[in-house]
Amino acid sequence: MRMTTRWIAGAAGLYAFAAIATAAPAADGKEVFLAQKCNVCHAVSTAGIEATTKSEKMKGPDLVGTIQAHGADTMVKYLKKEVDLNGKKHPKEMKATDEEIQAMIAFLEAQKK
Ligand code: HEC
Repeated sequence: MRMTTRWIAGAAGLYAFAAIATAAPAADGKEVFLAQKCNVCHAVSTAGIEATTKSEKMKGPDLVGTIQAHGADTMVKYLKKEVDLNGKKHPKEMKATDEEIQAMIAFLEAQKK
């Protein structure tokens, strides 16, 4: 009997923990973008982000409107270097959790011309 009660208490504790974890705020897309150093090569002009590299060769396009133009699914695959765009792979592979990638895509998707 004792064992069962303890097991139930333990399980309830786990569920409570899961509920807290789920309720935690989702990753902030702009923070992810900056933390991934995407802003070294890309401006996002509507969000006040400027590319920091001085090298014109390294620079990529301003990302305002990009997600709308290509679609979120394609962009995720492109950033993971799974698909090409204009016959080329993205110069940098994005290494982040799916949650972070989704949050960042949502942030970029909200940037409209
Ligand atoms: C070393 C520089 C560099 C870094 C860092 C970089 N990019 Fe890029 N990115 C480029 C270049 C250059 C292109 C254009 C490639 C081409 O035309 O084939 C590009 C293209 C893109 C495109 C497609 C734009 C379009 O409309 O064609 C997206 C979206 C993008 N990058 C997002 C990101 C994100 C998000 C990050 C951070 C995880 C990132 N990039 C980091 C250089 C970079």
